Amino acid sequence: MAKAIKTIGILTSGGDAPGMNAAIRAVARKALSKGVKVKGIKRGYQGLLNEEISDMEARSVSDIIQKGGTILGTARCSEFKTEAGQQKGVDICRKHGIDGLVVIGGDGSYKGAQALSRLGINTIGIPGTIDLDIACTDYTIGFDTAVNTAMQAIDKVRDTSSSHERCSIIEVMGRNAGYLALWCGVANGAEDILLPEKYDFNEQNIINNIIRNKKQGKTHHLIINAEGIGHSTSMARRIEAATGVETRATILGYMQRGGSPTCKDRYYASIMGGLAADILCDGKTNRVIGYRRGQFVDFDIEEALAMQKDIPEYEYELSRLLAL
Ligand code: ADP
Ligand code: F6P
Repeated sequence: MAKAIKTIGILTSGGDAPGMNAAIRAVARKALSKGVKVKGIKRGYQGLLNEEISDMEARSVSDIIQKGGTILGTARCSEFKTEAGQQKGVDICRKHGIDGLVVIGGDGSYKGAQALSRLGINTIGIPGTIDLDIACTDYTIGFDTAVNTAMQAIDKVRDTSSSHERCSIIEVMGRNAGYLALWCGVANGAEDILLPEKYDFNEQNIINNIIRNKKQGKTHHLIINAEGIGHSTSMARRIEAATGVETRATILGYMQRGGSPTCKDRYYASIMGGLAADILCDGKTNRVIGYRRGQFVDFDIEEALAMQKDIPEYEYELSRLLAL
């Protein structure tokens, strides 16, 4: 029989994402409702190693569901990638009576959770990243808010691009993944969408598109460029020189990661948080919550990390066709 969990720790790790607070709130309140103690760990694995740990009550998570960022703070911690760091983390969990840990973050954070599980602390991961780049899930906390924030910003850039009859290259986040770029490209009606997974670095094609569109009377040309491709400013200079069309680069940056979460991010994060607490209290470990084909599910972390995900071919082809 699985050992009963008495105390759950919660931490957020890697890049923050809007909706993480809803997940923290749900984990805490679901666990407390089962009579399980809850401890908040500040600043991810770094905070665990620094013993930045405090008790959480139902009221500790009041008034946070609408807030962006994470009330627990987040950090990247290279020490936790070492065996010594991981063993220290286990010792600190034991010292504080933490026998189960919920880790809200991305693939890197799951590797930390996997190490803790191997060393005897039960762990569950919840997918939190604006990049949507976690293979085992169709949804990650923060993507919906970030993509809406970016879409609204791009609409604004479009207005001024049209007025000045300019070409605009707008760079969106996503690390090496093109999901934010693809969604914005379609939702903003961009003329070119550059994804790290697909881009062939043939700038002449873009230049030809701009010249053709100009001849056909288009008053702007929007290029959504993914962070994984980058170099938007130098690209703008080259495109302007080759086309004679004034070209500007806008790098949206960290504004995409902040702000009040959308309803979807609050709702899905809440369900995932509740499930994580349930699964942990059932004695399961080394699992990660996902959302696939309309259902909330959970996978073994090892299995989840081995999964692959790519830009759906039909969606990519359609995005190109609609951009004509
Ligand atoms: P994300 O969780 O968003 O993928 P990172 O890759 O930056 O973000 O990982 C977040 C943190 O998870 C790292 O700073 C580190 O503390 C921990 N981590 C990453 N990789 C490993 C690993 N191989 N083993 C243990 N911990 C890891
Ligand atoms: O993973 C989320 C993300 O915002 C990526 O889109 C981006 O590449 C990265 O984090 C930036 O990380 P940092 O906050 O360390 O600059």
